[in-house]
Amino acid sequence: MEIWHIRGGNRLNGTCQVQGSKNASLPILAASILAPMRCELHHIPELRDVDAALRILRHLGCRVIQEKQSVYIDSTGLSGCYIPNRLMEEMRSSVIFMGALLARCGEANLSLPGGCHLGKRPIDLHLMALRQMGAEIEENGRELHCTASGLHGADIRLPFPSVGATENAMLAACAAKGETRIYGAAREPEIKALQDFLSAAGVEIHGAGSDTICIIGRHKEKDVVQRIIPDRIVASTIACALAASGGDIELRGIDPGHFSTVLHFLNEAGCDIIKSNYALRIRSDAKLRGIGPVITEPYPGFPTDAQPVLMAAVLKAEGRTKIRETIFENRFRQVPELQRLGAKIVCSGQTAEIFGVPSLHGASLTATDLRGGASMIVAGLAAEGETVICDDGHITRGYERFDNCLRALGADVYLEY
Ligand code: EPZ
Repeated sequence: MEIWHIRGGNRLNGTCQVQGSKNASLPILAASILAPMRCELHHIPELRDVDAALRILRHLGCRVIQEKQSVYIDSTGLSGCYIPNRLMEEMRSSVIFMGALLARCGEANLSLPGGCHLGKRPIDLHLMALRQMGAEIEENGRELHCTASGLHGADIRLPFPSVGATENAMLAACAAKGETRIYGAAREPEIKALQDFLSAAGVEIHGAGSDTICIIGRHKEKDVVQRIIPDRIVASTIACALAASGGDIELRGIDPGHFSTVLHFLNEAGCDIIKSNYALRIRSDAKLRGIGPVITEPYPGFPTDAQPVLMAAVLKAEGRTKIRETIFENRFRQVPELQRLGAKIVCSGQTAEIFGVPSLHGASLTATDLRGGASMIVAGLAAEGETVICDDGHITRGYERFDNCLRALGADVYLEY
C-alpha cells in the first residue's frame, strides 16, 4: 500500500521535465520480440507497468538490461510463446504480446489481460483483426490459444479506433505475407511512435496518425535505437495541477500538440498558456471559470485519460463544467472520492456536472484507478488541510516519481511506502 500525504494550498512554480510515455513504451517493448533483434530504448519511464512488460520479456527468454530510463533488449534467444496468467493480469497492455508472439513464433498462449477497471474492456476487435490475418484463436475461459500456420495480409476495418487492437494488428501484420491495411485505425501519438519503431526495425509501414495504416509484411530485421515520446497524459496532469493550485510553471521535453485539447480547455478556464516546440509555459491564478462541454473522444479528440484530472482542476471553478465520457463506461470512479473533499459533482449516466465550490477541504481518500488516483492528487493540492490517499499501487503504474516532481514545483507532498 502506498500512502500519499498532500497539504494543499501551495502555488506551483518552476520547471519540470516530463517523463517518457507509458502507453508508447509498452507496445514498443512488445514489438522488440517481433524478430531476433537488439534494441536500445531511451526515456523509458520507471513504472510498475514497464516492470511488468520487462518481466514478460525475461520470461520469454529475452536478455533485458535496465539502466535508469534506458532499456537494452536482446530478443535473439526468445525461447517460448507462453505468458502465464500472473504476468498477463498485471496490466492491460500485456495483450499486445499476442500479435508480437504470433508474428515471431506462429503461436501465442496467454490469458485475458488485467488493467484498470474502467468498465467492460473486451478484446473482440483484437481477435477479429488477428483472425482476419489467418490466426486461429481458441478461447477457453480466460485462456487464449492462438496459432497461425502463416499469417497473410488483410484489409481490416475497425468499427471503433481501438488503440490496443490497432497495435496488435500492426505487430501481427509485420510477419504477414502481403500487404495489410488497417482502416479506422487509432490515430494516437503512441501509434505513430510504434510505427517509427517498426520502421526503424526494417518494416515497410506508413499511415500512422491517419485512420489508415498500411504494412507490408516480412521485413528485413534491423537493430533499433529509439527515444520514447513524452507522456502527454502526465503533462496534462501537471498542467491540471497547476491550473487548480495556481502558479507559473514550464513543462519541458513535451510536444504541446499531443495534448492541445487539454490545453484548449485549461485556457478556456482562465490559464495563460505559451507554447513553443518542445516546451510550454502555463500560468494560473487559481481563479478558474467553468468550461465545457468537455467530451472525451478518440485522438485527436479530448483524451479519456485526462478526463479525471481535468475534472479535479475545475472543482473550484466559478460556474458549471459539463463532462461527457464516451470511451469507457466506468470512468467516473473518482467522483465519490472527490466529493469527500467537498466537491459538488452530479453524475447522470456518462455525464458529470461540476458546480464550482469556493473551497475544498482535506480528507482521507482511496485511489480507484490510475488516472482517478491522479485526479485525487490534483484536487488534494487545491484543498485546504491534509489529504491522504491510500493507493494499492495504481498511481505508480503510470506516474514516475510523481511526488518528487510535484515537490520540486513547491507542492507539499510526501509518499509513504
Ligand atoms: C489504451 O487502452 C490506453 N492504454 C488507455 O490508457 C487509454 O485509456 C485507451 O487506450 C483509450 O485512449 C494503453 O495504451 C496501454 P482501446 P486500450 O482499445 O488499448 C473498447 C491509462 O490510463 N474496445 O482504445 O485498452 C473498450 O472497451 C490507460 O493509461 C472494445 O470494445 O483502449 C473501450 O471502451 C487506461 N473491443 C474503448 O474500446 C476491443 O477489442 C477504447 O479501448 C477493444 C476495445
